Amino acid sequence: MVKCAKWKNFWKTNKRSAVMSIYEREQLRTVFGGALRPGGVAVTQAALDICAFAVPSHLLDVGCGTGETLRFLMEKGFEACGLDISSKLLEEASQYGPVVRGDFHDLPWTDSHFDGVFCECSLCLARDRKAVISECGRVLKANGRLVISDIFVKGGAENLKPDHSSGPVTLSCLSTLLKGCGFQIVAEVDFEKALKELAARLIWHFGSGDILKTLWSSDGCNACETGSLTYSLVIAEKTGF
Ligand SMILES: C[S@@+](CC[C@H](N)C(=O)[O-])C[C@H]1O[C@@H](n2cnc3c(N)ncnc32)[C@H](O)[C@@H]1O
Repeated sequence: MVKCAKWKNFWKTNKRSAVMSIYEREQLRTVFGGALRPGGVAVTQAALDICAFAVPSHLLDVGCGTGETLRFLMEKGFEACGLDISSKLLEEASQYGPVVRGDFHDLPWTDSHFDGVFCECSLCLARDRKAVISECGRVLKANGRLVISDIFVKGGAENLKPDHSSGPVTLSCLSTLLKGCGFQIVAEVDFEKALKELAARLIWHFGSGDILKTLWSSDGCNACETGSLTYSLVIAEKTGF
């Protein structure tokens, strides 16, 4: 078990880069297991069931981390590619398929390149989530699907600035952003149970709920203190305006 003061200091030093680099830490990755998100590839499989991409569709995973989804998609015969900002995580992901180091606010592909874009538990880390959604829309073909799985603040809870702040927002906030970027939501699936299971594992390992605040809180949002976070899969189709 780890002393939480260590994490508090780490967090105070540099909040945004702390959250991003925290996923590189071996200790955290041990608790997560494979994928660095609640639900693992079960959530990805649920997305594939809904999207029914033909093999071999061209799929991109933005914020691919250690490449669990990349591995999963390649094994299923898709032409998949991963992008992440962390060269450390990409080193691991590269054993499963092609990867690119980059920032999901500015994707290094031409317009209408992919049939599907996955953004699994990474949109909540964006400094400008509207820019990320808009970039995903740009690189998607017409009627392509954007798969977002993420931590959300439950409906009734205080909403957050949708664009220029990282951290969880409500599903209705995401829905507004998606519509504004030319997407139509085609499915929403609740995975709150997976979030609770991961939270329990994290608390068990670190001996305190502080780690949850480090990972999932943001300015002005004490959602994980009040238990009002959830995890959902949202699938949206690029319909244009
Ligand atoms: C919670 S992890 C999820 C990783 C992976 N999607 C998974 O589910 O295993 C968030 C990932 O987003 C990446 N990330 C954060 N900010 C990013 C950015 N601006 N551009 C690209 N990747 C970013 C992090 O490096 C990290 O790998």
